[in-house]
Amino acid sequence: MNPIRLAVFASGNGTNFTALVNYAKKQLPNVEIVRLIVDHKYAFVVQRAKKLEIPSTYIDYRKFKDKAAAETEIIGRLKEDQVSGILLAGFMRIIGPDLLLAFPNRIINIHPALLPSFPGRHGIEDAFEYGVKVTGVTIHYVDNGVDSGEIIAQAPVRIKESDNLESLEKRIHRLEHRLYPQTLRQLIKKGVFTV
Ligand code: GAR
Repeated sequence: MNPIRLAVFASGNGTNFTALVNYAKKQLPNVEIVRLIVDHKYAFVVQRAKKLEIPSTYIDYRKFKDKAAAETEIIGRLKEDQVSGILLAGFMRIIGPDLLLAFPNRIINIHPALLPSFPGRHGIEDAFEYGVKVTGVTIHYVDNGVDSGEIIAQAPVRIKESDNLESLEKRIHRLEHRLYPQTLRQLIKKGVFTV
């Protein structure tokens, strides 16, 4: 059987990208992460992709007349790569209608808080500042909102008296690196990416 070909979209460091690629290589013989899409030329995730020998494509959104035009370019690239699903891993843009339509219910995101609480770019910090006692990680389908699609999986992280933002971030990220690959495994099993 041909492997399921996936792309990862990221904007920054890329620890989730690395976790997904390593897990797929070792544990998911029927899955191949074939491309990284980045919207920042110098994002560290690009170095990670090089090391893992995964081709990356930088999309400079400012060069296109609008988001739809940038996404047309992305869709073309991913169709050529025969990609059947997209994993957002710290990709800090709202996905437009064309891309959503091209991959219906096949775009997944990870968020570092228990949605619907604390959506947006600063989920960990917002939960910490608010003073909640439990936060966590959410994996969800992507729709046209900000971290608003149907929830697939969640796992909690308790905030201790002794925590500071840094120690909380560490635990959240450690959990992300387990939960995203495990959820990917479940989605593959469910046939979500089978075209
Ligand atoms: C992760 O914590 C991810 O949950 C978050 O960006 C970080 C990327 O880290 N995403 C969001 O906040 C989405 N709203 P990474 O680049 O090391 O994988």
